[in-house]
Amino acid sequence: MKIAVVGTGYVGLVTGTCFAETGNDVTCIDIDEKKVNSLKNGKITIYEPGLEVIFQRNLEQGRLNFTTDLAEGIEGAKIIFLALPTPPGEDGSADLKYVLTVASDLGPILKEYAVIVDKSTVPVGTADKVHAAIKENAKVDFDVVSNPEFLREGVAVDDFMKPDRVVIGTTSEKAKKLMETLYAPLVRQGNPVIFMDEKSAELTKYAANSFLATKITFMNEIANMCELLGADVDSVRKGVGTDTRIGKRFLFAGIGYGGSCFPKDVQALAKSAQQVNYDFRILKSVMDVNEDQKTKLIPKIKEYFGGDLKGKTIGLWGLSFKPYTDDIREAPSLYNIEKLVEAGAQVKAYDPEGMENVQGQIGEKITYCHDAYSAINGADALLIATEWPVFRTPDFEKVAKLLNNKVIFDGRNLYSPEQMKDLGFTYVSIGRETING
Ligand code: UDX
Repeated sequence: MKIAVVGTGYVGLVTGTCFAETGNDVTCIDIDEKKVNSLKNGKITIYEPGLEVIFQRNLEQGRLNFTTDLAEGIEGAKIIFLALPTPPGEDGSADLKYVLTVASDLGPILKEYAVIVDKSTVPVGTADKVHAAIKENAKVDFDVVSNPEFLREGVAVDDFMKPDRVVIGTTSEKAKKLMETLYAPLVRQGNPVIFMDEKSAELTKYAANSFLATKITFMNEIANMCELLGADVDSVRKGVGTDTRIGKRFLFAGIGYGGSCFPKDVQALAKSAQQVNYDFRILKSVMDVNEDQKTKLIPKIKEYFGGDLKGKTIGLWGLSFKPYTDDIREAPSLYNIEKLVEAGAQVKAYDPEGMENVQGQIGEKITYCHDAYSAINGADALLIATEWPVFRTPDFEKVAKLLNNKVIFDGRNLYSPEQMKDLGFTYVSIGRETING
C-alpha cells in the first residue's frame, strides 16, 4: 500500500520505517530540508536501537522515501499519517498549530479518497478539528482516524512491530478496512486491533500514559513511606507486583519519571479536565509528587556534607531520562544539576548517549567526561540518575579509590544495600535502608 507520513520526528520516522519494513511504499514528509537531505542520504537523525538497520534496508530497496514537498509526498497515498509535534502551550494544554496547519494544507491537494491519521498525542476532539480544517478546501471524500502510538523510546521498533494492541478510532467502515489491512502483519500473533470512536481513542492514549505515571508515582510514595517506617521498597514491590491485577511492571521507585510523554500527557489531561470543569485530583497529586521526587536526594547529599555543598564535586552517572536513549527531555538529571550548581557544587557527568544534548542545552555548566570512572575521579560523592547497564556492575574497588569519600547516592536503586554494607560504602537509595559506611 502507498502511505505517507508527515513529520519525521521520533514517532514519524519509526512509523514510516516500520511500515516500509512490512512491505508498504512509504514517503515521509518534513519541512526541515536539512533533515530530509540527511535522511535521503542514509544518515539517520535519531538514536533508536534497531532502527538504523531497517532504515538502511528500506531506503536501499526504495520502499522508504523522503521529501519536503507535501503534495508530491501524498500523491497516491491511501493513508496519510500526521506525526507532528504537539508541545504544551503556555497553559499546559497541547498546542495544535502544527497539526492544524498541515490539515489545512492537505484539503486543496487531496486528489482522491484518503484516510488521514492522527498519530500524535492530541486532546480529545482533535480528530473533529482536523476533519473541519481539511474539509474547508477539500474537493474529495476523506476520513480522519485517531491511531495513538504507544512506543517506548529505546524499544520503539519492537513496540511497533509487536504491539500489545493497536487502538484505532473511527466510525467509517471504509477507513476501518484500510487500517485493518495496514496493521495485519503486526498483529498476527493474535494481539488485538481495538476499534472505537475517535474521541475514545484520543482519550485512551492520555489514560494509558497518565495511569502508568500514576503507578510509578504511587510506588515512589510507598518508597518514601518505606524510608520513614524502616520497610524495604524492593520487598513491597515484589509482594504487590505478583498480584496479577497489579502486575510486575512499572513499579520501580526512583527519582521520578521524565521523558517527552509522561510529564506532557499528565499535564495535558489535567488541563482537559479543567476545561470541562472536572477536578481530576489524582493527576494534580501525581504532578506534585513527581516534582518533589526528582530532587529527593539533594537534601540527603547536603546533609552528608554538613549542609554545605560549596566547593564540593559531584560525579553524576546518567543524563538521559532513561537508558537506551539520548533523549534528555524532562530528565531528572537536569533538575539535580540545577540544584547542585545552585548550591555551589561542581558536577562531572558521564552518559553513554545523552551528553551532546545536555551540552547543547546547558553548555559548560558542568564537566563532560568520556567514561563513568573519569566522572568520579577526585569527586566527593557519586550520584546516579539513570540506570544505564554500564553503571550496574562497576569495579567497586576502583570506584572507592577514585572517589574522595566512599559515598553513593543512588536514584535508581542499582545496588543492594547488603552489598554496599560489605564493601564499606555509605549508600543512600530510594525507599531502602541507608548504609552508613
Ligand atoms: C512512554 C510510554 O511507555 C509509551 O507507551 C508512550 O507512548 C510514550 O511514553 P517513554 O517515555 O519512552 O514511553 O518511557 P517509559 O519507558 O514508559 O518510561 C517513562 C518514565 O518512567 C522514565 O522516566 C522512567 O525512568 C520512569 N519509570 C518507568 C520509573 O520511574 N519506574 C518504572 O517502574 C518505570
